[in-house]
Amino acid sequence: MNEVSAGARDVRNGSKRLVVLHGPNLDLLGERPPEHYGDLTLPALERMVTDEVERVGWECLCLQTNHEGTFIECVHEYRHEGALLVNAGAWTHYSYAIHDALELVDCPIAEVHLSDVFKRESWRRRSVISDVVDFVVGGKGPEGYLEAVRLLISLADRR
Ligand code: DQA
Repeated sequence: MNEVSAGARDVRNGSKRLVVLHGPNLDLLGERPPEHYGDLTLPALERMVTDEVERVGWECLCLQTNHEGTFIECVHEYRHEGALLVNAGAWTHYSYAIHDALELVDCPIAEVHLSDVFKRESWRRRSVISDVVDFVVGGKGPEGYLEAVRLLISLADRR
């Protein structure tokens, strides 16, 4: 099995690209508690995000991994893209290594969570990456991803 599963092939056509990086357990969306994550699967969520990105003439690359080192390598590899949308899952709450990788990114970054992390266990209230991203969207389900895409593209277009 591949360590990174790509929802889209890494082929460029010269447009700006938004890279979506999903962390651990998000490959099992659709099976995770629906009261927090809804019932959309990861491929369906990626399709929604890709459609929104392509609507404005950008390309979209969606990746998911359950391996922290692979996630970090993806951040390195895509640090000079048009924009980065990150849902680091549980790593959000304790991975200083992901914090340090995101610090090296030179495009706008969105931290997105499907669930409202402030209304769940206390350990989820802390994000160790939010000080190195441009903005955070949480608790809005898939709609939050679309909001993040629009904001990322307008930030990138202003740079
Ligand atoms: C999550 C919230 C995290 O606390 C959790 O570990 C996840 C998903 C979200 O999208 O709501 O895996 O990032």
